[in-house]
Amino acid sequence: MNLAIIGTGYVGLTTGTCFAEVGHKVICVDNNEAKVQSLREGKMPIYEPDLEEMIVSNVSAGRLEFTTDLAAAVRECEIVFIAVPTPPHEDGSVDLSYIEGVSREIAESLTPDMGYRILVDKSTVPVSTGSKVHQVIDRYAPAGVDIDVVSNPEFLREGSAVYDLLNPDRIVIGADSQRAMDMMKRVYQPFNAPIVEVDLASAELIKHAANSFLALKISYINAVSAVCEKAGADVELVAMGIGMDKRISRHFLNAGLGYGGSCFPKDVKGFINVAEQLGAPMEILKEVERVNEAQIERFLGRIRKKMWVLRKKRIAVWGIAFKQNTDDVRESVAVKLIKRLCEEGAHVTAYDPKAAETGAAALSGYDVTICDDMYECVRDAEVLVVATEWKQFAMANLVKVRELMRLPILFDGRNIIHGENALHAGFEYHSVGRRTLRPTKS
Ligand code: UGA
Repeated sequence: MNLAIIGTGYVGLTTGTCFAEVGHKVICVDNNEAKVQSLREGKMPIYEPDLEEMIVSNVSAGRLEFTTDLAAAVRECEIVFIAVPTPPHEDGSVDLSYIEGVSREIAESLTPDMGYRILVDKSTVPVSTGSKVHQVIDRYAPAGVDIDVVSNPEFLREGSAVYDLLNPDRIVIGADSQRAMDMMKRVYQPFNAPIVEVDLASAELIKHAANSFLALKISYINAVSAVCEKAGADVELVAMGIGMDKRISRHFLNAGLGYGGSCFPKDVKGFINVAEQLGAPMEILKEVERVNEAQIERFLGRIRKKMWVLRKKRIAVWGIAFKQNTDDVRESVAVKLIKRLCEEGAHVTAYDPKAAETGAAALSGYDVTICDDMYECVRDAEVLVVATEWKQFAMANLVKVRELMRLPILFDGRNIIHGENALHAGFEYHSVGRRTLRPTKS
């Protein structure tokens, strides 16, 4: 099928590429000329495993192209996906101006002789956005155009986006017309995944409710981790014990420094806001946010307690990205932690396998040294903090790390280091929701 994707951000670019990979003919549209040019040359605007190779191979196979010409893409493609940003306003409500702008541009590109068109919303939006998009089309498109608006939320995770897209748990399609539903099902036929067929409003709600529920799971286990610390229990064992109940599941029960990224913080806020607007407040999500903020404070408090004062302390931080396998630092808890340490006068060195550049930009104005080697980063440090769950941190040579550091103090904010290994290497090992391990003095 001929598919247009408007917006080459994370969701648009990876979705468009995966549609091409399964055999559709895809035109990706972006209004940023320089970005379109770089993509044509195979230069990636983001780091995402496997994406670059897949873009290059689909471009050369003639299934994927990049353009700034929205009207031409709408002319050629029967289905047009909208994947533009929906950032938060100051008050937590969702800024829908990009959605409105693109809908209007699409409306003005439509002509009655084009035939049937489906507009699909891929961006995360508050419930009832689809009907507003329809109103925009009715207002600005010439009389006689034949369109339907569909909601098809995306559930990919950064860092495993290509895998998630090609192996989805489910595809959610929200449509109020059978014709649109049938065509959308054809788009997803090659994916071999269960399709959840619902109305437009329910599909929009599924996305906000899913992300907020995952954030709730994280805050739940983080709140439990605080109890574990007081009770001398082990949050990893608790998570294992409750997660084996299929009704609960072990996924997204990793205690740590809390959730970050471009989705959960924004979507929890957005859902709180839309529920309030509708007169059905989701107070439970306010607690989810409160626990998330408290988690980093509690962790900082423990570092402070250990070191007495942080001023002039040399602190190494492993991890700047908001999670592993990405260079994305938006709403990164690691960035927040580094800023707080700097504000308290610590000398911070930081390392991230992919987010050195994006991290430097996010931390500009802060007195932090970004290193290009994880071992160099810890030289002469008094504390090492693990802030992002990259695999290579879990696999680190801790004896070497211990030898390079000035003091053997390790704070693992993601519970990824094997505690016994840290102990054997001579570290005092602090983690989240577990007992501190201290070497016995001989
Ligand atoms: C999230 C959802 O998982 C996707 O399904 C959704 O499509 C996406 O948002 C979106 O709306 O676009 P993403 O933000 O890329 O994906 O990353 P996640 O793997 O969900 O991690 C989010 C944050 O939660 C990270 O900071 C991670 O470190 C943290 N996290 C995750 C935990 O602290 N504990 C966990 O058990 C899991």
